[in-house]
Amino acid sequence: MQFGRTTFSKFVIEHTRGGHSELGALLIDVSAAVKGIAALVGKGALSGWTGTSGAGEVNVQGEVQKAIDVASNEAILRHCEWGGQLAGMASEEMDEPYRIPDQYPRGRYLLVFDPLDGSSNSDVNVSVGTIFSILKRETAGDGDPSAADFLQPGDRQLAAGYAIYGPATMLVLSLGSGTHGFTLDRENGNFILTHPDIRVPEETREFAINTSNERFWEPPVQRYVAECKAGKSGVRGVDFNMRWIASMVAEVHRILMRGGIFMYPKDNKDPAKPGRLRLLYEANPMAMLIEQAGGAASTGRRRILAVEPGELHQRVPVILGSRQEVERLERYHGEYDAGTDRAFTSPLFSERSLFRADAS
Ligand code: AHG
Ligand code: MN
Ligand code: MN
Repeated sequence: MQFGRTTFSKFVIEHTRGGHSELGALLIDVSAAVKGIAALVGKGALSGWTGTSGAGEVNVQGEVQKAIDVASNEAILRHCEWGGQLAGMASEEMDEPYRIPDQYPRGRYLLVFDPLDGSSNSDVNVSVGTIFSILKRETAGDGDPSAADFLQPGDRQLAAGYAIYGPATMLVLSLGSGTHGFTLDRENGNFILTHPDIRVPEETREFAINTSNERFWEPPVQRYVAECKAGKSGVRGVDFNMRWIASMVAEVHRILMRGGIFMYPKDNKDPAKPGRLRLLYEANPMAMLIEQAGGAASTGRRRILAVEPGELHQRVPVILGSRQEVERLERYHGEYDAGTDRAFTSPLFSERSLFRADAS
């Protein structure tokens, strides 16, 4: 019997009472937008939205925009622009912040989002998602916020979440007090609280990284992955499993459900890009969700949530998941930076270091 269960609306209304009801109203609009995107994505080729956006358009990242990226972006803009809670929005798919049209009232919140994450997977019927982050505008005035208003460290997020469009659609949310999962009941259109207070297991034997970039990684990441691959025969003394879905949302969701570590680390493939993922609308919201679930999220050298953004579409290295593994990677980065990791970085000794007895 579904009646009486906690819906997403009930949850956010209860958790935003006493001065934050506008945040609750905004989140309910976000949930309406993601239901629309879920319906679109779920139609697959029948939606008519597969393929590129038409004119071979690229977004500000220089990536080809798919029609479904553009449609998902529209869904969020239209569902969230009217309610009077927002000062502005920013998205992966828009070079500049979106200004709230003059006919609508304005508020103090800023909504930042990746409308469709992993969209290269949408044409092959693999899980994709939407990622969002809500900040408060710190500068006074009712005028349009500038890009600088969005440049706040992730620790200042008031809410963060994602929707995953998989076999089931789920919405996972944090308001700064735990991470909570809701499953879409397609029959009645409600998101129902099915996963209250998700906890990431501290230990894991599963890692996720795009190993085709291995030659571009820094030595600490090469060392970590080599040790995972060495399994029982190496310093870890246990076999690891690997997954790579190429949808960050799906990887983070798996980690929240059963542990693991996800890495899109710094590499030297393109020196202009210190990472693949974007800080404001990919790394920060996921870092908040993971930390609130007891996991850790790091660039390898510092907490992601402490990074001061310099620009709207800034990229950042991402290492997140089970706490012990993230801390191990931070240690490896520290040893590398301090020059105490020589045994591994030297080709002469790298083989031996793989099997070093004291490396754990
Ligand atoms: P987006 O589709 O929003 O551009 O993001 C895709 C991201 C992320 O979801 C995933 O982890 C990564 O790109 C996949 O990268 P590879 O193509 O290197 O596998
Ligand atoms: Mn993305
Ligand atoms: Mn995207």
